[in-house]
Amino acid sequence: MKREEALILLKEHVKTDRVLRHSLAVEAAMRAYAKKFGEDENYWGLLGLLHDIDFEKYPDEHPYHAPELLKPAGFDEIFITTILSHASASEFPRDTKEKLCLHAVDEMASFIIAVALMRPTKLEGLDAKSVKKKMKDKAFAKAVNREELTASAEALGVDFAEHVETIVNGLIEHEALLQKEGYSLLD
Ligand SMILES: [Fe+2]
Ligand SMILES: [Fe+2]
Repeated sequence: MKREEALILLKEHVKTDRVLRHSLAVEAAMRAYAKKFGEDENYWGLLGLLHDIDFEKYPDEHPYHAPELLKPAGFDEIFITTILSHASASEFPRDTKEKLCLHAVDEMASFIIAVALMRPTKLEGLDAKSVKKKMKDKAFAKAVNREELTASAEALGVDFAEHVETIVNGLIEHEALLQKEGYSLLD
C-alpha cells in the first residue's frame, strides 16, 4: 500500500490531532530506522503510521482491534502481527527487528517531540543529553514510562544516544515533508 492510501485509511479511524501527530511521528522514526538498517522504508513507515489505528475507537482493547481494520485493507498476517506486538504487555513476542523497533520508537518519538516543543530551536540540535534531562524530570510527560524507553532501546540493540539521534533526524526529515503538505508535528 502507498503512504497516501494508508494516510486516508488512518484518517477514517483517527480523528484527533493528538493521535494523528503521534502516528506521523512514529512513522518518521520507523522510516529513519528502516534506512539505517537497510530495510524497506515504505513498509516500516506504514507500520508506524498505522500502529495505533484502533486506539480511538477501542482505547481499552487497543491494539487488538487492529486486525479487523487492517485485514479488509489488504494487510497480511505478518504486518498485522507486528502491530499487535507493540503494546507494552502484548502476548505477541517481539521476535523481529521491526517489532523491536516499533516498540522502541513508539513512546520515544512522541517524548522527543514533547521535549522539542519546549526548546526555541525545536528539533535542531536536540541531543540525548537534553532528552535524558527531561526523562529525569518526573513532572514532565509523566504518563511516559522512562524504564520502558531505555529498556526497549536496549532490546533493539542500539545505544541510547544513537537511538535519540536516529529518531531526531528522522523527525526533522519528516517534518520537512509534512510542511510541504501544510502540516506540522511542531506547531
Ligand atoms: Fe499503541
Ligand atoms: Fe503508539
